[in-house]
Amino acid sequence: MDNAAVLPAEIRPFIQQGVQVAWEDDTITLGTHLAICPISGDHARQLGRLLPLFDGTRTLIDLARVSGLDLEEVRALVEPLYCEAFLGERTDEAVPALLFYEHSRNCGPLWQSLSTWQDLLPEAIASRRADAKLILGLLIEEWHYVASNPIHASAAVLNAKSPRTRFLWAQFAAEEYPHGAWLEEGLTRMLSRQELYACRPLPGTAALCGQLRWTAHASELGYAACLAQCEQSNASRGAAFQSNYYASLKGLAVLPEEVFEPYERHALTDVQAGHLEFTRVPFEERGVITLAERLDVLGHVWDHVRAYELFYRNIYEFYGSPDTPRLHTLPGALLDGPPAGRGGRQGSGSTRASRSSLV
Ligand SMILES: [Fe+2]
Repeated sequence: MDNAAVLPAEIRPFIQQGVQVAWEDDTITLGTHLAICPISGDHARQLGRLLPLFDGTRTLIDLARVSGLDLEEVRALVEPLYCEAFLGERTDEAVPALLFYEHSRNCGPLWQSLSTWQDLLPEAIASRRADAKLILGLLIEEWHYVASNPIHASAAVLNAKSPRTRFLWAQFAAEEYPHGAWLEEGLTRMLSRQELYACRPLPGTAALCGQLRWTAHASELGYAACLAQCEQSNASRGAAFQSNYYASLKGLAVLPEEVFEPYERHALTDVQAGHLEFTRVPFEERGVITLAERLDVLGHVWDHVRAYELFYRNIYEFYGSPDTPRLHTLPGALLDGPPAGRGGRQGSGSTRASRSSLV
């Protein structure tokens, strides 16, 4: 086997925060509430000897010596768990970039599971509590986000590290470019263009767009790792999932079905485009990557996970509240009516007071 493609023997693995470990009979299960990985038989017996030793201080060589396994047995157990992000490391050694790519992709769902915030939107849809304001708000914010793609993708083109990745980001941008306009067509079934263009992105939406824009500028690997959190491949479960999701939105019967058509077409087009494969290429080109580079990429993935959470949280809090306007726009004149059901003008006074105390 090519030595560059395996984890170095000096790596010191630890069990990542948020990973739950359960033992039952001869099976060890590692996972989160989102995904689990059962291991049984000989592998489980070997892993059982290693698990208490994964504390970030022992190299693979140390682990082999203490557990009585040979180095290749230890590596064969550690490597897939590292790729699944159940194991992490902070070792000052270069790591094969493609192994790290898999690790960074899987850190996203793990870190999503660390949040104490619970997204109530899926439950609101499943229980049919979601009303027209909430669903229209969700679609408007998704439109803002999708329409911002040319901003971050063009930054990735400018900051590409090789002709190959520059071409790929340009192709990505070209394929994504019209998608904002598609979604806009769906929204015009509910809103005039004038109303639509008056909508401002919620702070969570602006944060998510800005985070990707900044990452595309600062780190090609970080940008690729962030996109890998959501982009699909032809092997993803995407197509069936997307169709079921839009069927459930239509089933709410709160908006005309034509509003959703471009959204569903967009989701299925993205699945078929297979952009997930693009995100692997910058790592493929690197061979190995250093600890400092790994921490930088993981930092961007962490930012992206937190920004995505803020995106959905802000949508639910704003459009799910009876005390907010139907659309997030500039406040108008007093004659337009209070922007919020309760408090109205008094609310904006207290905001001004607290904001001035921050500067
Ligand atoms: Fe798209």
